[in-house]
Amino acid sequence: MAAVEKALHALFVAADGTSLRKEDLKKARELAAMLDELARVVRPGRLLVDAAAGKSYVGLLAAELVGVERVHVIERDAARARLCREAAARLTRPAELTVVEGDVASSASWPDAADVVVALHACGAASDAVLDAAVAAKTRWLFLVPCCYAHAVPFSAHAERLADAMGVPDHAEVRRRVVISLIDTERTLRLEAAGWETTVMALVPPTVTPHNLMWRARRMREPNRMRQASERLAKLRAGDGRLGDGRLVVPR
Ligand SMILES: C[S@@+](CC[C@H](N)C(=O)[O-])C[C@H]1O[C@@H](n2cnc3c(N)ncnc32)[C@H](O)[C@@H]1O
Repeated sequence: MAAVEKALHALFVAADGTSLRKEDLKKARELAAMLDELARVVRPGRLLVDAAAGKSYVGLLAAELVGVERVHVIERDAARARLCREAAARLTRPAELTVVEGDVASSASWPDAADVVVALHACGAASDAVLDAAVAAKTRWLFLVPCCYAHAVPFSAHAERLADAMGVPDHAEVRRRVVISLIDTERTLRLEAAGWETTVMALVPPTVTPHNLMWRARRMREPNRMRQASERLAKLRAGDGRLGDGRLVVPR
């Protein structure tokens, strides 16, 4: 933690006589946990993609502290991409850095091949776009921490229909949890069906951030696991409004 806090300050605050703010200290806890994950899988020369990167805390700290040598940053906000470039100039270890100012949903933003993809707090549909891009690029590892679950999330409308078919009430706090769980279910099965062995775990305690779940996925292509996930995914996505054959059928 001390090393993460020190590097966070040196790269991103870089003003003498200042210290990290309370929210930066919380961020440092997430970053330390994510860097622990990355340290287990990065190897010399492997390309790390930091998607929906913001200023690329993860990508740059991975270069500074974990020994990642090649980082590809994707961030659509020009000001954050600029702050990332400025922070990169303060790295004390050499790293090959590409900063793409673009959308994670565009294939033009992605490198031809990547070994490890990380997306920390990818907002709404950006999580789905990162997941699909990682699958398309056949990356070895994906570390995905989704953020908000907006209506723009592709499975959101179907999850609402499923909730209706199940008789879930309109009480927002109850319904929201069901819909989020269904979105999480679809994302998990989508990864598994594509061949990524997936663990869903708390990256940090919910007191650090309510958006604390991480999808840690490794491309294994295990046929039985893929088949089982595909069947479940088809059940989840199917529907015309009745309960039958052990599956929930949903009105469109
Ligand atoms: C909640 S911030 C997280 C930033 C960083 N990963 C972190 O943990 O500090 C989400 C970032 O994703 C970017 N973003 C959201 N949707 C995006 C998209 N479709 N393509 C590229 N960047 C996106 C936003 O501009 C924002 O900088």
